[in-house]
Amino acid sequence: MRQNIIISKQFKSELATAISECEKDKIFVLVDETTHEKCWNLIKDDFCLRNAQVITIGTTDSSKTLETLASVWEALQQGGATRHSLLINLGGGMVTDLGGFAASTFKRGINFINIPTTLLAMVDASVGGKTGVNFGGLKNEIGVFSEADAVLLNTEWLKTLDDENIRSGYAEMLKHGLIADEAMWAELINFNLAQPDLQQLSGMLGKSVKIKERIVEADPYEKGLRKALNLGHTFGHAFESWALEKSPILHGYAVAFGLIAELYLSVVKADFPTDRMRQTINFIREYYGTLPITCNDYPRLIDLMHHDKKNCGNEINVTLLGGVGDIRINQSVSEDEVKEALDFVREA
Ligand code: GLY
Repeated sequence: MRQNIIISKQFKSELATAISECEKDKIFVLVDETTHEKCWNLIKDDFCLRNAQVITIGTTDSSKTLETLASVWEALQQGGATRHSLLINLGGGMVTDLGGFAASTFKRGINFINIPTTLLAMVDASVGGKTGVNFGGLKNEIGVFSEADAVLLNTEWLKTLDDENIRSGYAEMLKHGLIADEAMWAELINFNLAQPDLQQLSGMLGKSVKIKERIVEADPYEKGLRKALNLGHTFGHAFESWALEKSPILHGYAVAFGLIAELYLSVVKADFPTDRMRQTINFIREYYGTLPITCNDYPRLIDLMHHDKKNCGNEINVTLLGGVGDIRINQSVSEDEVKEALDFVREA
């Protein structure tokens, strides 16, 4: 199935069209506390949303729980939602993941539209149908594949984001560049993230989303090629879950550090060119800093990697690269190789 992804030029009229194309006896809008104030207030007076009921949840990833999910189901039920109602998810990846899951399971599934408001959600989370919540200390442990009826990317909202959120989303763009081709990778690592030119960034975002769209279309349920999108994420998810137990870091920062580890393993196990790894790491060091892990953290990180959804049996599974654009999925790594890569992350 091809997802309806709209890189918006005239947001309000495109939103009205997207809503008009969905079945809807009632409209519900899911926001978090931040997007309620910064985004919902900008669109709530639109004719197409005049009778919408708003459901508000907490802002941080710690709200991505079964309890929050139950509160959304409850709000839908108490608001009189039927199988013919529409849920609009207006927010970052937490809102689009949790809202997508709530919509896909309420009365066995209602229509939903994603309106991502962060760069991370625009370039990755809201596109491709992965929905879910965290569970048992693990990221996105419970969920389903379920594509939104439409995804509307309003790049105007990039202007409202702080540097950290731009950098977080940009890490996923960097990943898309690494799995795509040299030209895209080179454009990405030569971009000035200290003073981002938002017009150039919007153009790069459009190309980046297309890469993801093509991969998801070819392999929606991650049986093969879609595993390319997991580059940086076996280590990245472990770093993110580890940080969640101490002092949370944004998803994209965890992915950026995960890319360092997995590019190192790509050099060692798949002959990825060392100069390309160094150039990418220099970019990451400049804009994302360092991850404060010590060797005392290794057992917990390895334990987290053993719980990764991408594993098969007892092996830790990663996606590596033989070069920029040369994807090697289903690569198993030993615990010793993981420790070596973690040493590299600390020392690089
Ligand atoms: N975020 C990776 C994927 O959607 O497959």
